[in-house]
Formats: sequence, structure tokens, C-alpha cells
Amino acid sequence: MTDLLLLPGDGIGPEVIAEVMRVAARIAPDLALDERPFGGISFDQLGTPLSEETLAAAKAAKAVLMGAVGGPKWASAPRDKRPEAGLLGLRAGMGVFANLRPAICFQPLADASTLKREVVEGLDIMIVRELTGGVYFGQPRFIENLPGGGRRGVDTQVYTTAEIERVSRTAFELARGRRNKVTSCEKSNVMETGLLWREVVTDLHARDYADVTLEHMLADNAAMQLVKNPRQFDVILTDNLFGDILSDEAAQLTGGLGLLPSAALGLAGQPGLYEPIHGSAPDIAGKGIANPLAAILSFEMALRWSLQRTDLADRLFAAVGRALEAGARTPDIGGRLTTPEMGDAVLAQL
Ligand code: IPM
Ligand code: MG
Repeated sequence: MTDLLLLPGDGIGPEVIAEVMRVAARIAPDLALDERPFGGISFDQLGTPLSEETLAAAKAAKAVLMGAVGGPKWASAPRDKRPEAGLLGLRAGMGVFANLRPAICFQPLADASTLKREVVEGLDIMIVRELTGGVYFGQPRFIENLPGGGRRGVDTQVYTTAEIERVSRTAFELARGRRNKVTSCEKSNVMETGLLWREVVTDLHARDYADVTLEHMLADNAAMQLVKNPRQFDVILTDNLFGDILSDEAAQLTGGLGLLPSAALGLAGQPGLYEPIHGSAPDIAGKGIANPLAAILSFEMALRWSLQRTDLADRLFAAVGRALEAGARTPDIGGRLTTPEMGDAVLAQL
């Protein structure tokens, strides 16, 4: 059985996954690794961004680690054949409904943020983003021609009680192991799904998680509070679209996307999907300057959440922190190291 299925994908994906493989060979040589085509490269080779073989391999592994997908090369591919469609298909196919996106400000990088050091120092937020529902998947969705000229585009935002409850459980459980606070974000002032979201979270909290502090915040206000006073947050619980936006914003608080991992989890016992939250970065792909830390930290999350190797995850997390303390920096965080040199810096600390 495969422990970790690697999906390097497109752009900088293969470069950063190569560094994960070096780290894995060092700290967990017993892990059974496998690799499959996914994203644009899979479209080029097989005519689809997500082949049945790759999806089957993902469901059969204990954990899946993706590099990145997409790029200008596939911008004009049919919509359902785009690399991004493959990613949504993988998330839905694996049933990974809870997306954990930590935003941690590593001490030595507090000056890499565009915000003042005193605002971001010590920041440790966990965004829990619903990942397999909402407007990303809701039907109907289409663009139609209007009789009198012009067109009409339709997306559907839809959530059920069950979808809201299961991701909320993940958020409450996580909060218990942290600072015990959940901030649930929606737009209940204007959206029906937002109103339902607020009611379901409130009910579940009263029923099973009354020991956790629960706060509701409108998503637009949350976006503002994130840059005003980000340390007020512990766990942020939100839907697919708001989670996409708020997690990019939170990433920038910590000094950029190059450092942030994510974990997408389904029901207990099912494989998790791990992805750096940066994209394929076509502008720097192939130059050997991408920051591999987000991918390495995604591997760290896989060790922790799917592979039951908390000991190794702790060691790896500490090694990344020490590498940064020792001054290791790729260009995105103000340094000159190449991707393999950043990998070396982490290996040196292991
Ligand atoms: C993310 C990305 C994806 C998303 C894209 C690539 C489909 O922005 O993981 O945040 O919107 O979910
Ligand atoms: Mg995004």
C-alpha cells in the first residue's frame, strides 16, 4: 500500500516536490512513495487533468501530496479539462471537505510581512475552509446568450446542514487542541446560505461544543480584522469561497505564500490531500528559485494528520524553524538561496 502519493503537477510543483522527496528519504526512508501525472501535464499526456488511474491511486493511498497545477499553457483548454478542474475533481473525488490552512508567522520572518512586526509577531491562525461544496460546486452553473444580446452567467451557492456540520466539527475539535476559540465567517446579512451557516454552527456549538468560545463574524469584516488585529483569531471557520480569499490574505500576514502548507481532510480513516497553498507560479517555474518550504511543511502535515508520525512531524517543523533562524531565505522572502539550497538548509537542521 502506498503511504504517500506524490502529484508534482505543473509549474514549480515538480521543483518543490523534489525537495520533499529528499527530506522524506532522510527522515522517513520506510515510507512507500508513488507518483502520478496530474494537472496540465496529465492533460498533455493523457487528455485529462485527472485520470481515473490517478484518482484511484489517490483514494488507495494513506495520503496524497500535490505540488501545484495550472499555467498559461492551459488557459484556453476547455473548462472541464483545465488543471484547476482536475484539482476540484480530486478534492471532490477524495471527499476531503475540511481544508486546514494554518497561517503561522515564523519569528525570524516577522519582518518579511508587509504588516508591522508588532501586528504579526507570534501569529498562529488556523483557517478551516469548507472544500467540497458551496459556489465552487453548486448547480446550476452556466453562461447563456440572452435573446436581446449580451450574456448571463450563473453560479449557485448551496450548502446543506450536513455539509456545514461536518466541517464545523473539524473546526471545533481543532480549537480544543489550540486556544479554544472558533470564529465562524459568512454573510448572513445578505445570503440565505450564510444565514443557514450561522444557525447550524450555533446549534452544533450549543449541542456538542459549548466549552469552545464561538464568535460569528461577517466575512467582509473578517477580511478587515485580519489586517487590523490578526492575533484575535484562533480558528477561522468558513465556506469554500470566503475561505479561498481569507486564506490568501492570511498567508500574506506571515510573509507570503511560499511558506504555507495545507491539509484537506475527509472522514476519519480516509486519505488526506496535502497541498502548498501557493500556485504553480509560471513566472518563476524552471528557474530553481521557488521556495520549497510550503511543500515541505505540507509533507509535515501529512506526517501529522494522515501517517500518524507526529514524532517526525515535530522534528521536521522544528528543523524548518531552525533553518529560517539560521538565515536560510529564497528570493520570495528576501534571500538568494535556490530551491535545492533551501532543501539543503532544512536537511542540515535534521
Ligand atoms: C486554492 C486555489 C484553488 C482554489 C484554485 C487553484 C482552484 O486558489 O487552493 O486556494 O480556488 O481552491
Ligand atoms: Mg486560493
